[in-house]
Amino acid sequence: MSTKKIHYPKNILLNDHIIPYESAYIPVFDRGFLFGDGIYEVMVREKHGVFFQAAHLDRLQENLHKIGLQYDISKIEKQIPELLLRNDLQSETALIYIQVTRGVAPRKHAYPDNPSPTLFMYAVPYTITPVNTSNITAVVVPDYRWQRCDIKTTSLMGNTMANEAAHLRNADEAVFVRDGRITEGSHCNIFFVRDGMVYTHPADTHILNGITRKIVIALCRQHRIPVKETAWEAIALEQADEAFLSGTTVQIASIARLGEHTYYEGDNCGPVTRTLQQAFADLKKTDTTQQKL
Ligand code: PDD
Repeated sequence: MSTKKIHYPKNILLNDHIIPYESAYIPVFDRGFLFGDGIYEVMVREKHGVFFQAAHLDRLQENLHKIGLQYDISKIEKQIPELLLRNDLQSETALIYIQVTRGVAPRKHAYPDNPSPTLFMYAVPYTITPVNTSNITAVVVPDYRWQRCDIKTTSLMGNTMANEAAHLRNADEAVFVRDGRITEGSHCNIFFVRDGMVYTHPADTHILNGITRKIVIALCRQHRIPVKETAWEAIALEQADEAFLSGTTVQIASIARLGEHTYYEGDNCGPVTRTLQQAFADLKKTDTTQQKL
């Protein structure tokens, strides 16, 4: 899906200090390191601001709440422009990563009584075109993840295993199947289209309710495209007319091939996917920083 070269950032933010990334260290007893006990967010800053920043920050706060970690994220909003500035990214498109862990404590599964969370944030230059024109290929893998995929936790072993399986099979992405139904991708959500109707897995505990997923649903409603939050059966891949992925990094990506089924050859893409991609690109011409979903 992405052949972009990824760089380390110049300066990162660690616990309210912006410092060169080479001199940033996390104590070995940080629960993020020991248990993957943390929450993260990924956002993109484009010409008109951070795309749906308020919606991403709301989700961060909700997720921290879901893991019982009390942490006031309100300062992050002010730290983002400072971080961009300290990386000479004031006027460039950038990818922003935020992570809050339960911090340092002697190793014990139960949560520490008075945690002191670790905040880590970085921004790197990021190239993004208004419409993702790459027609992606995906493999289907069993959803061997846990039952709380709605939590945007930093414990991503299942997701990285699946993505690596895709990589080894020369595919761009891996799409999970649980109880015979397609849930989501290793780092994005998935939609199917049949007879003009758009289908996607309901926002329950088996998927992450993507900000882009919510935007796609809103765009469908605006464009009078009917949507059903109903999971697609894995045995019925060939019965869909179109399939596409949604996510902060993939935006809206048409699927050329999923498992054994080919939807589109070359860089062709279906009409509903195309309409939504265009509507999404139009949305990016506006400032959505403070918009909630
Ligand atoms: N991934 N599902 C999973 C499992 C994800 O990891 C993501 C995002 C999404 C889409 O969410 P959103 O539209 O809010 O980006 C769905 C991010 C980009 C990542 O892990 O890098």
